[in-house]
Amino acid sequence: MTDKPIEITMVASEMFPFAKSGGLGDVIGALPLALGRMGHKVCVYLPAHRSILREYVPGDSAQVADVFSDARYEVFSLEHEGVSVKLVSADDLFDRAGFYGDVRGAFPDNAERFARFARGALSHMEGEGTYPFIIHCHDWQSALIPPLLKYRRADDERWAGVATVFTIHNLAYQGRFHPDDFAHTCLPDEAMGVEGLEYYGDLNFLKGGILFSDVISTVSGRYAQEMLTEEQGEGLEGVVALRKDSLFGIMNGIDDAVWNPETDPHIPAPFSLAHPEGKAKCKAALQEELGLDASAEGPLCVVVSRLAHQKGIDLILETMDELMGLGVSLAVLGTGEEALEEGLAEAASSYPSRVAFVPAYDEALSHRMYAGGDVLLMPSRYEPSGLNQLYAMRYGALPYVRRVGGLANSVSSSPTPEANADTGFHFDAFAPADFLARMAGICRVFLEQGLWRMMMRNAMEKDSSWDGVAPRYVELYEQAMRPQPR
Ligand code: ADP
Ligand code: GLC
Repeated sequence: MTDKPIEITMVASEMFPFAKSGGLGDVIGALPLALGRMGHKVCVYLPAHRSILREYVPGDSAQVADVFSDARYEVFSLEHEGVSVKLVSADDLFDRAGFYGDVRGAFPDNAERFARFARGALSHMEGEGTYPFIIHCHDWQSALIPPLLKYRRADDERWAGVATVFTIHNLAYQGRFHPDDFAHTCLPDEAMGVEGLEYYGDLNFLKGGILFSDVISTVSGRYAQEMLTEEQGEGLEGVVALRKDSLFGIMNGIDDAVWNPETDPHIPAPFSLAHPEGKAKCKAALQEELGLDASAEGPLCVVVSRLAHQKGIDLILETMDELMGLGVSLAVLGTGEEALEEGLAEAASSYPSRVAFVPAYDEALSHRMYAGGDVLLMPSRYEPSGLNQLYAMRYGALPYVRRVGGLANSVSSSPTPEANADTGFHFDAFAPADFLARMAGICRVFLEQGLWRMMMRNAMEKDSSWDGVAPRYVELYEQAMRPQPR
């Protein structure tokens, strides 16, 4: 690996603490900082979401002319822990209450919004004369950058040495729009062909990122394989297969500064491997906060999740009575699909002292849930990486997860009896019987305090820090920077 600092520009739609709706925000909030600690020079472009401009006062701003059209932008600058953050403002496109939509659903002009975001970011770099070694894009919201660059290189040769890396955090969100929206991309017509952004007659942003980047990656080794299958490929498995020689899987990490039970300001009592006593206080406080029966014998299971089909919360709803029969308590923090919210609210009213549901997005409560829980439930249908299970392990809540994607890669679980190295529990088939059978086993292990404590120790000891992961991205950047035919 080279010692030479690399200039890396990331482009993404979320970054903790500025904007976060899920794991993408956590990744962009931590990876650039870890790369910065390695000595690399990192800059991150974000949309100037209303919530960011309301909460943070940017240092200065620049007026930017679009190099692809006559549109204009204002780009605000902030410094954040050694990373330079640029906020792209485009008319009223990002000055809104939600990142991608509101109560009525996705914003109808999302194609325009994120086409302008990509064009605005590139135009700003060009205007400043900043040509980084690497532009690292994430998900469909910044996926137009690689195709835009492919064509821009012909007009401005200073882009020739800039390599692109594209990371897919979730293949199911593709940025698929009506073909008329292609006009917003400012790409030449030929880019809308089958070898470009056209997908069954529609415009598909993600496809552009996959096809036109020098290197592509996803957020676990197992999901990199799963993406190539019909079952998990979301219709893009054939497109991903075209790039399989340039496809890498790198498991996400944890930001130790934010997720550390020894120093966490959000939890009622600190704890650690050496001083585990605080964990019981956190559990008691969570039970009290949520009105759960503290005398229940079974484990307190927690869920912190977007309530989306992906996350398999319906399996918990379907098996609620049997779960209660096993003696577990359940606390769920999450918002999303109405049917899931309704089902959870109903369960909480049927079992008021055993089930609690908080339909909110609450960063501080999420920390208290990991700290107070015995088990984290994550029965995902698919899971590219997953961060919740990493946080849970760090906070001594053993993850019970479906053996898919990053959950399979990060949670060690052997068939019963649990081996010395286990950090959680797996099940395989997305079916009530399989889910419940292992849950019954978990309840038995919970009562065997010795084995449970050993697993908690394994889980809390697991090192998932971003400082260990960032060097793998540097290898990826080096791979992308090798001269290759474009
Ligand atoms: P995804 O990105 O698919 O939602 P991840 O496991 O990668 O799943 O990341 C989810 C992130 O969002 C974690 O940081 C988790 O704690 C957080 N999160 C999810 N739902 C909520 C919520 N309702 N309140 C607070 N944090 C939440
Ligand atoms: C996506 C995935 C999740 C992953 C996150 C960050 O939201 O659903 O598994 O952890 O991106 O990479």
